Amino acid sequence: MADSTVPVNMRDPHGSRAAEHIRTQANLQVVDRLDDLQTKSLGGGAPEKLRTFTVSTRLRGRSLVEDTDLTTDEILDLLDTASRLKRMHRQGEAHTYLPGKTLGMVFQHPSTRTRVSFEAGMAQLGGTAIYLGVNDLQLRRGETVSDTAQVLGRYVDVLVARVKLHSDIQELAANAGIPVINGLSDEFHPTQALADLLTLQENFGRLQGLKVAYVGDGNNVAVSLMLAASAVGVSVRMANPEGYTPPADIVTQATWLAAASDATLEMYRDPREAVRGADAVYTDVHVSMGMEETAARAVALAPYKVTTELMSLAAPNAIFMHDLPMHRDEEVEAAVADGPQSVIFDQAENRLHAHKALLLQMLC
Ligand code: CP
Ligand code: NVA
Repeated sequence: MADSTVPVNMRDPHGSRAAEHIRTQANLQVVDRLDDLQTKSLGGGAPEKLRTFTVSTRLRGRSLVEDTDLTTDEILDLLDTASRLKRMHRQGEAHTYLPGKTLGMVFQHPSTRTRVSFEAGMAQLGGTAIYLGVNDLQLRRGETVSDTAQVLGRYVDVLVARVKLHSDIQELAANAGIPVINGLSDEFHPTQALADLLTLQENFGRLQGLKVAYVGDGNNVAVSLMLAASAVGVSVRMANPEGYTPPADIVTQATWLAAASDATLEMYRDPREAVRGADAVYTDVHVSMGMEETAARAVALAPYKVTTELMSLAAPNAIFMHDLPMHRDEEVEAAVADGPQSVIFDQAENRLHAHKALLLQMLC
């Protein structure tokens, strides 16, 4: 009887007595501050025999709409949480720290990695995910983004959304009353950037001082990489054709972030100059979702294909990165994509671990 008398307040999932009750059931413990971070220890034994897992509570209840929503410390802390979750996952250790939590997934574009890694990740954390594609919501029939956000916020604990227009994710976040994660918009792809940083850190054992050359279209992936990398001391060298550079305000923002983290942001036209001595060479598709496939675009971006010859200018132990999906022999030669320097599938796997870290920190 005691259970059914707990009042449920779905709009306040972190402060409600119902949520507190769920935490108690899952053996969650609130601990004092560790260093200057507020943390919480999850797990701790019966009934699920979960290992105690301490996470920062700084992201609790917050959204990730753009990369700059996270401070440098918060990015590094997420990477640490992701690495620990990855080890547990590899060792087959249970980490169901989010029982009773639900992730809503609003997708206006198709997705393989973002969708499946969020959905599987939420299941591995003991929660539930509900996928809502373009045909599943009344959005399709003209219900406003704001009304949709206000309703979904009363049913689920966190939302991830892939939207055509960045303003839609901003509107979702402003109205949902719960954390909202940008799973790609036309302007940013911040969850991709977290997995990219995790991949760099794993390959080089550090982030500070690394140099990443991004070659191609200055799109959403390029923007998020620039901002996130610049915040954590990774120098970025952008090589884009005229008319395909990232927005000027983002370049300015990333330049300031880089300066504060002892890194640099350099803009090039010539991919060979950008790649020289780089630790990682990164590219993305030449035509993103929702963009028009024009002959002018194809002509402008053709010289930005990552070839074996271009890779040979990078550092001898350089890695090749791509967020995927890719078009072999369009933006990257198949020999590079499938060659020994390529880390593309580790990078794709790291989406899972980075997303789980986000969910845990936002919902703990
Ligand atoms: N990289 C990425 O976001 O892949 P999906 O489009 O498959 O989610
Ligand atoms: N820039 C690409 C990334 C896909 C994950 C796009 O927006 O389509």
